[in-house]
Amino acid sequence: MASPVFDDSKITVIYVLGGPGAGKGTQCSRLVKEFNFSHLSAGDLLRAEQTREGSQYGELIRTCIREGTIVPMEVTIKLLENAMKEVISKASGDGWDDGQGRFLIDGFPRKMDQALRFDETVCLSSLVLFYDTSEEVMLDRLLERGKTSGREDDNVESIKKRFRTYKADTMPVIEYYSSTPKVAEIDSSATVDEVYAKSSEVVKKLFASKAN
Ligand code: C5P
Ligand code: MG
Repeated sequence: MASPVFDDSKITVIYVLGGPGAGKGTQCSRLVKEFNFSHLSAGDLLRAEQTREGSQYGELIRTCIREGTIVPMEVTIKLLENAMKEVISKASGDGWDDGQGRFLIDGFPRKMDQALRFDETVCLSSLVLFYDTSEEVMLDRLLERGKTSGREDDNVESIKKRFRTYKADTMPVIEYYSSTPKVAEIDSSATVDEVYAKSSEVVKKLFASKAN
């Protein structure tokens, strides 16, 4: 079997999972500041592709996002791989010397097929940061965000569909990685600072173990 595009002894990939509104993006922004990660949100890449002139996937992505379903993995994986290549060709500074790099892949893998394919063909992941909280908390946060996000899926109807997809497709991914030492589960019901303190600790431990 062909080996992955990126060597995981040099490129650190952390998957960031959790339901919609669990706080993935918020925590990633802070981790970027402390650890000089490149933060790639699968949802953001899909939204950019949706509006890119000449994209053959625009309509498909729009429908999936509105319905809260998962875009076929080939599309998302290619977008991530391309984005990683571009970042690696330009990035510098802490964690990026000598062909090294560190990525937070946010909102991915949302489904088992994506997880296996990315690990096998793009880069073997080092860790899964899993943010867990209740649907009530997530719903409140998403409705609040919806006042200003301009996102077509931050409305009650789409949110309910996203919760359903999360349970059916994404929970199995978390269960799969839970049988390995790769998952760090963090209760994200608490304040941003409290959740961040735990996130930062987990990432520090990962880099310490990689340095050995
Ligand atoms: O992560 P985010 O909430 O921004 O994702 C928005 C939507 O993008 C998802 O509800 C889904 O339709 C699509 N998506 C996907 N596959 C991913 C990430 C997002 O299909 N890995
Ligand atoms: Mg997000």
